[in-house]
Amino acid sequence: MHIQNKKRFYLMMGLLGVVIILLGFSIAMIWSAISSNNAPVQTTSNTANPAAADSTQGNRTDTTASQAIADPTDTLVLVNKTTSLDEDYLPPDLVWVDLPGVRETQLRKEAAAALEDIFAAATAKKLSLYCCSGYRSYQTQEELYAENVKNYGQKEADLVSAKPGQSEHQTGLAMDVTAESVNFDLLESFGQTLEGEFIKNNAHQYGFIIRYPEDKTTITGYAYEPWHLRYVGKDVAAEIYEKKLTFEEYLKTS
Ligand code: DAL
Ligand code: ZN
Repeated sequence: MHIQNKKRFYLMMGLLGVVIILLGFSIAMIWSAISSNNAPVQTTSNTANPAAADSTQGNRTDTTASQAIADPTDTLVLVNKTTSLDEDYLPPDLVWVDLPGVRETQLRKEAAAALEDIFAAATAKKLSLYCCSGYRSYQTQEELYAENVKNYGQKEADLVSAKPGQSEHQTGLAMDVTAESVNFDLLESFGQTLEGEFIKNNAHQYGFIIRYPEDKTTITGYAYEPWHLRYVGKDVAAEIYEKKLTFEEYLKTS
């Protein structure tokens, strides 16, 4: 081949190579975008998959499949990945909690009174509990959830953080508690502290349950949260404690 034609030939081949690479890259990007849109929120077996607990419910992680709640003021209201509170739901009788805590926070009146009782019982045993987070609005939960997704990715976030409308904190019936020994943080190791043990063994006597127990992720949809107390009243809390049930299981059998 003539030297000039040779040059042109190599130039053309080079350009063709670049075009093929760019084309391949674009196809890969489009394919990956399509696949991630279709992927379920939780895909692996060791992550929360409440759908596995009740095949009649469809995909429980999908907020659009969420059921409306008839009476959000009911002490036994179920708020989880299948049932959502309205964006503007505000509990009717919120009070500021007058207990030690890492921030000012609110609960519904009856739950706040019960929390005062359990804190007093802990103090009598020389244990120091601290409130961390009680009532949270839909908007606050929206921000928290978005932050968790940003920090940990959606799959991990969905194990530890509720989507807006799906957090019990919006009911005003849930309180996260902590202790100095875990640096006032919300850690699984709280369950092994003296305060965590006290909560585990006594919360039911005051009307609270540990809402997200260990090894119940497939039912509750969330990882173990030894700090998350949910007020349900003494009788229900006692039954749930004695029968080692989750709140979902209790409501199904009651
Ligand atoms: N951490 C619990 C699941 C919540 O975000 O309400
Ligand atoms: Zn909580």
